[in-house]
Amino acid sequence: MKVQQFSPSVGQQEVFNLLDTLRDNWMTEGKWTARLEAMIRDRCGCSYALMVPNGTLALFAALKVLGIGPGDEVLVPDFTFFGSASAVALTGAKPVLVDVRASDFTMDPGAAERSIGPATRCIMPVHIYGQTCDMAALTKLAQGHDLLMVEDAAQGMGVTCGDRHVGTFGDIGCMSFFADKTITTGEGGVLLVNDQELAERCMYFKNQGRLERGSFVHPQMGYNFRITDMQAAIGVAQFERIDAVIARKREIVDLYREHLAAAPGIEWPADNGLGQTVPFRANILVDHAERLADFLSTKDIQARRFFYPLHRQPSLNADNAVVRETPKQSVRLFERGLSLPSSPDITTEEIRYVCSSITDFLGTAARPDRLTDRSALQCEPTPVS
Ligand SMILES: Cc1ncc(COP(=O)(O)O)c(C=O)c1O
Repeated sequence: MKVQQFSPSVGQQEVFNLLDTLRDNWMTEGKWTARLEAMIRDRCGCSYALMVPNGTLALFAALKVLGIGPGDEVLVPDFTFFGSASAVALTGAKPVLVDVRASDFTMDPGAAERSIGPATRCIMPVHIYGQTCDMAALTKLAQGHDLLMVEDAAQGMGVTCGDRHVGTFGDIGCMSFFADKTITTGEGGVLLVNDQELAERCMYFKNQGRLERGSFVHPQMGYNFRITDMQAAIGVAQFERIDAVIARKREIVDLYREHLAAAPGIEWPADNGLGQTVPFRANILVDHAERLADFLSTKDIQARRFFYPLHRQPSLNADNAVVRETPKQSVRLFERGLSLPSSPDITTEEIRYVCSSITDFLGTAARPDRLTDRSALQCEPTPVS
């Protein structure tokens, strides 16, 4: 039995919608993109939703539209996907890498405050693994220090903080519709905005310096950050069954917890209770995570390590990033974290197989002499200083 880490759930409706775009002979942004943007606005409760090619470019666009660039700093959690920080670095600004909370893996407001310097202009909360950041604390911090806010809600579709959807707290919110997200367009992303003037600036940015297509007059400089209607047509079909997918994601985590209830040494990520969590992955924390991943791969089970701490990324260094307080929790999470297979279409039988394999390993792990731990070696590249 081969159990993949993740594969998107795609049905007949996606095929049907896609064929419609081909029959219509309209492939760039059109009626399907408008429909998807309307669905996103309704779901997230924001005034404007603008599709862009992916989540990383959404972050890049948001930062550029807000005027972030060389000489500026942006607070970014040390524990997130690389794209959160690369989007900052590619504007010429520097990500300031901030530790996360052990309890919910999100940006630690205290560490963020201590990391603010004279050039810090923006904060990027990341709703990691589908759990909201402490937006009350981070919003207060941003307001108190006059910081702009770009929310990285790449993993946050369906996630709320209180009764508000994540991605709608900051100046601009960014989401990803990459193939492993709760809903996917293959590649894709969206900018969430409430302010009309800011939304217009985003439109100029993504639409080659114009508000409307069909004109060769370009009042501003801008990029082409459009998507295709083929992607949007898939996204609409995905969106129509989003609640079923979210329910299934929660069920998968419950099934893992049930089948691993008796397994020793597993720590389950806590829900911070600040809103509705949509588990982006089925995560556990264990000793010897690397060895467990290797063991599971011998059983044809694809487990994934957690994100590599940004301050140890080989591509981030003192020239393009800042660390004012050495992050510790991000290192601990990397060393202990493992994402178990969690495709919406995973079967209960497959989950049982994964759980019995983990239980087998935990018996073996009681004898560390039999295994070599490589996780320490994997954490060596030059830290940002
Ligand atoms: C937290 C986070 N930020 C940004 C991104 C970048 O999104 P994309 O892959 O669509 O560029 C991802 C993608 O996985 C992500 O998980």
